[in-house]
Amino acid sequence: MAKPFVPEIREIVNTPLLQIENLNVSFPTQTGEVAAVRDLSFSIAEAGTLGLVGESGSGKSATALAIMRLLPPQARLSGRIRFSDEDLPSLPEDSMRRIRGARISMIFQEPMTALNPVMRVGDQVAEAILAHFSLSRQDAWRRTVEALGEVAIPDPEQRARDYPHQLSGGQRQRVMIAMALVNHPQLLIADEPTTALDVTIQAQILDLLSSVREKYRLAMLFISHDLGVVSRVADQVAVMYAGEIVEMGGVERIFSSPAHAYTHGLIGAIPTLRTSRSEPLATVEKQNRRANPIPLTQVAPGHWARVAKAPQA
Ligand SMILES: Nc1ncnc2c1ncn2[C@@H]1O[C@H](COP(=O)(O)OP(=O)(O)OP(=O)(O)O)[C@@H](O)[C@H]1O
Ligand SMILES: [Mg+2]
Repeated sequence: MAKPFVPEIREIVNTPLLQIENLNVSFPTQTGEVAAVRDLSFSIAEAGTLGLVGESGSGKSATALAIMRLLPPQARLSGRIRFSDEDLPSLPEDSMRRIRGARISMIFQEPMTALNPVMRVGDQVAEAILAHFSLSRQDAWRRTVEALGEVAIPDPEQRARDYPHQLSGGQRQRVMIAMALVNHPQLLIADEPTTALDVTIQAQILDLLSSVREKYRLAMLFISHDLGVVSRVADQVAVMYAGEIVEMGGVERIFSSPAHAYTHGLIGAIPTLRTSRSEPLATVEKQNRRANPIPLTQVAPGHWARVAKAPQA
């Protein structure tokens, strides 16, 4: 049997902070095993950003939850997830708890359900600090107000005393970002952080993520179904389809020379100022998953795709 493909990590990044090799995640269901993630390999450098893009059900959240070790207990997982010097799947739960929310934090896909509706937002951020550091409540509160200020929430002292319903959707998302960043993680996983927001607020949140990323030299796994959104924050892009990465490379390269038909479709589906409003938007054609999947092959330096024959670069 052919050796499973693992991209030459060093060609993408110098120092991988996160390195995933041959990750498989599946869920046993009444109708059989659902393979959510298949043989997935990628890495993220310190301070690097990988955008994970793909349609609904392609396995993006399952990948994120596998890294955080927050998959439901019935999920089956195999493969390696190395973060710094740790192999996350084999860490004891108390060591994982020390990493989660401190060295790796996550902004979850549903911002409305991720905040506790009956707790002041400041107390929720302070809890995130106190879960990892032995500070006085007063110091944790001070740090909370500072963190809310860092994500540009106006009048943070006052807003910290608000309950989630008193804040706008954009402000709630800023609170989520503050909570994720308050312990200065090395890696932030943002799962569709702007999907629930309108376009103007979405742009502000993307700008905020870009600026905190630079300020804290934060590595980021940015998940979205929208390649246009991903291209605004990520330097590397991995395109997922039916649990597999079908194409991966630098963001400019992916846009200028997409190799996989599915990536072509995603690019075609991004509306631009020149898109005619009288025509329906392009949709991405379903791909047939073959019994013997095509392996990822290098089509140009730092650019891989599951294509039968590498096109001329
Ligand atoms: N707890 C579960 N039990 C069974 N199947 C699951 C479970 N969670 C996810 N799946 C399945 O795994 C696959 C991948 O789901 P995942 O949530 O990772 O997709 P996604 O790419 O994040 O989609 P979306 O864009 O809708 O968030 C889907 O087929 C989904 O139905
Ligand atoms: Mg998801």
